[in-house]
Amino acid sequence: MTYEQAKALLKEKGQGQLLRFYDDLDEGGKARLLAGIGKIDWSFADVLAHPEDLSGRGSRVEPIAGMRLPEIERRRTEFEEIGVRAIREGKVAAVLLAGGQGTRLGADGPKGAYNIGLTRPLSIFACQMKNLLEVVGRCGAYVPLYIMTSEKNDAQTRAFWKEHGYFGYPESEVAFFEQEMAPAVGFDGKIYLEEKDAPALSPNGNGGWFSSMSRAGLTADLRRRGAEWINVYAVDNVLQRIADPVFVGATIAAGVNCGAKVVCKSCPEEKVGVLCLENGRPAIIEYYELTPEMAGQREADGSLSYLYGVILNYLFRIEKLKEISGRRIPVHIVKKKIGHVDERGQAVKPERENGFKFETLAVDLIKPMESVLPFEVAREREFAPVKNRTGTDSVDSARVLLEKNGIVL
Ligand code: UTP
Repeated sequence: MTYEQAKALLKEKGQGQLLRFYDDLDEGGKARLLAGIGKIDWSFADVLAHPEDLSGRGSRVEPIAGMRLPEIERRRTEFEEIGVRAIREGKVAAVLLAGGQGTRLGADGPKGAYNIGLTRPLSIFACQMKNLLEVVGRCGAYVPLYIMTSEKNDAQTRAFWKEHGYFGYPESEVAFFEQEMAPAVGFDGKIYLEEKDAPALSPNGNGGWFSSMSRAGLTADLRRRGAEWINVYAVDNVLQRIADPVFVGATIAAGVNCGAKVVCKSCPEEKVGVLCLENGRPAIIEYYELTPEMAGQREADGSLSYLYGVILNYLFRIEKLKEISGRRIPVHIVKKKIGHVDERGQAVKPERENGFKFETLAVDLIKPMESVLPFEVAREREFAPVKNRTGTDSVDSARVLLEKNGIVL
């Protein structure tokens, strides 16, 4: 994009402030700024002007039935056989969602590279790959792994994997792709400058992974490999079990389009999204959308009615993902603290929220899937989220759970 093109475009969009420091920049800076402006996804303006009602109000929300641990234990051999066969036949691939910024953890570099070890280096990536290699050993076949990064951490993530020999995986079974970026704006809708030569762009949430994968040409790779199922998982659970044959087998046996690993909520207030039925269809309702009455509602046996907390580990039927890929998924407007340079060129680190970011969420892919199997897993064996440095869902709590699972830190 040339300066003239950028100027005309920004005039039309009412975002002329982005060129405020153009004349002060050297040639490299000017080129960077124009390239950054060229990357802006302008659909945010529409979203801001016409926010969708994402509250789910007015919909009929009901509890959903799930598969509990005793049934899974009883049918373990049956499920495992189906799952192992699917993996052996190359029908299962995996996508690691690692494009987030991990602002709550506040560490430099990709979250997966975070060293959770105490007496030895032990990254989150390494913890997760150890589990995947166990599956590979049992099935005698690799599960192709696609890793979603963002512009902010792509180079560092690739370098970390290379440096660590792809954690024992063949390089040919690992592919990286970048997610898209969305602008960060003030409450007045004006895009911030992160630096004098860069508009504030941030990863656009974890819901766009399939379209980003397609854009990177990787859905063709899935087709070439004959993959039928894709296991999507978050980077921030150190006990994450990927391509778990029992889960794969149970989902296939249930004849549904999607399997979701869930834990039973520990208390009504736990901050996890819950699987439910919305107007008769499976959906995930975020913890802040559950009314206290719903959160505390109980069944005759005393268990919570809205019981199943999602842990961001889903198995999707690829055919169904393709079918819905043309549809738009909701864009959430989220209030955030946005670091920027002000009109005098001074760096500002806000103490309070000062604007909006725009995100699509993986949870919103559940509804269009139309059928889902909530598959219970044992929390102490499979769920150790690392969101914060200390306290709940933190490095500290994850370390305790890793040790309980026999991992030397
Ligand atoms: P979170 O919602 O916890 O976001 O991500 P985050 O960016 O990692 O952390 P905070 O909120 O800034 O502290 C859940 C999962 O989704 C991925 C994350 O990498 C993590 O695996 N994610 C999130 C993406 O891949 N892209 C995004 O844009 C956001």
